Amino acid sequence: MKTYTKLMIPLLVLLVFGLAGCGGDKIVTNVGKLHFEHPLKIPQLLKPTISSDGTKHFQLTMQSGTTEFLPGKRAKTWGLNGSYLGPTIRVSRGDHVAFDVVNHLDVASTLHWHGMKLPAVMDGGPHQMIEAGETWSPHWTIDQPAATTWYHPHVHGKTAQHVYRGLAGMFIIDDKDSKKLPSNYGVDDIPLIVQDKLFTKEGQLSEKDDTTYGTLGNEILVNGTYDPFLKITASQVRFRLLNASNARAYNFGFTDGRSFKLVANDAGLLQKPVTLKRFKLSPGERAEIVVEFKPGEKTVLHSYNSGGEIDHGEFDLLKMDAASKLTESAPLAGQLSTVPPIEVPKNAKLRQFKMTMESKINDKKMVMDRIDEVVPAGAKEIWEIDNFGSSHNFHIHDAAFRVLDINGQKPPEYERGRKDTVLIPNGATVRLAVEFANYADPNHPLMYHCHLLKHEDSGMMGQFLLVKPGTESQVSKKLPKNDMEYEHNGHHE
Ligand code: C2O
Ligand code: CU
Ligand code: CU
Repeated sequence: MKTYTKLMIPLLVLLVFGLAGCGGDKIVTNVGKLHFEHPLKIPQLLKPTISSDGTKHFQLTMQSGTTEFLPGKRAKTWGLNGSYLGPTIRVSRGDHVAFDVVNHLDVASTLHWHGMKLPAVMDGGPHQMIEAGETWSPHWTIDQPAATTWYHPHVHGKTAQHVYRGLAGMFIIDDKDSKKLPSNYGVDDIPLIVQDKLFTKEGQLSEKDDTTYGTLGNEILVNGTYDPFLKITASQVRFRLLNASNARAYNFGFTDGRSFKLVANDAGLLQKPVTLKRFKLSPGERAEIVVEFKPGEKTVLHSYNSGGEIDHGEFDLLKMDAASKLTESAPLAGQLSTVPPIEVPKNAKLRQFKMTMESKINDKKMVMDRIDEVVPAGAKEIWEIDNFGSSHNFHIHDAAFRVLDINGQKPPEYERGRKDTVLIPNGATVRLAVEFANYADPNHPLMYHCHLLKHEDSGMMGQFLLVKPGTESQVSKKLPKNDMEYEHNGHHE
């Protein structure tokens, strides 16, 4: 019965969409339209100031501005320390970091460190609001394996808009394992922030979000660059791909059919590189790949149609143009990560989450003062996500996980490493081995949610607390009403 219902709903969705004429024959594409004439923008590395105790201090200012995407047209955009997107933060495991996040917008926002293990009050979720004109100053110690993480606002109900307008950036963590890979930022270690957009005739960003999934664009920006190319100067290049789109998933590959090595998932390096020709990323997910080039070669990074609701479409993303002379790079090491894969104990606690059509998880919409789950800090648990609706994915704050299985089958090769966000295919059951951060705080909740931003905004999110093991039954599952007030304790006076 359960399986029957789960299969019927997607069928009905297909039928409704088919009738409405939004699915079906017409594939959204930009193929043939591009000239690859804009050099790929590389977000600047943000320089910290280092205090006497070694803490790295960074300043990020949210601001509005204008950006030329389509030639000759300037769009109104938001950015951090610039007009669109933000600088790349790069630190090493063990670093103490401190931020001043200044909000120069005229509305309140937040800044969430997606993929970071840290104290909940530093997480930048919907409870850590930064009012217009204010500064928020979180700080923590980087204590997790090397990974490509990212930052973006998390204002409840407004995340889609704030990210779409341009508030997002990359946050790279290095450790001794990650140094085995090409690491020269902007040369052989290249960030690729992929976002789909809708433009108006005047070249403004259109915020039209009338699909079930929110905004699905027909143009692609990479690092905020429209129609981009990249000159390749090394024989092996590491690309850090981040899907920072509101809803679209990509099925990445190269137009010349070449294979490449996948070296990392969202939350860390793989044990060993995996040779692939394609991999998918849904919103919020990251991957690192290493691509080999011969002098003079040209190829185009492409997203292949895979027919689903959020990953239909065919897009050229970035032309790569290898120079006639390339710097030789050392061959990839056999062993990459020395961190063992996430395993859960035999008697691990199992929690089940049901995602349904009405953007609910376990029949509930997110409520700011309600705690849905209480988890012992540092616990390892099995989380089982059931998708009874349309396309969704699932992200957990302050945790890393390994996908155990999808409908009882091993996950595809490209999603077997450490992750924090995963696609939950239509009608599927996905089981995760989750390792939670070891910071207890009975007062500040963390989130789990669908990372399709319209779904998240409309309440497809729950809250959990990480608490001192053994105190689970003692904590209140209702947050005080003056919640928003005492959340301000991270602020400057
Ligand atoms: Cu990318 Cu709850 O966030
Ligand atoms: Cu997150
Ligand atoms: Cu969703």
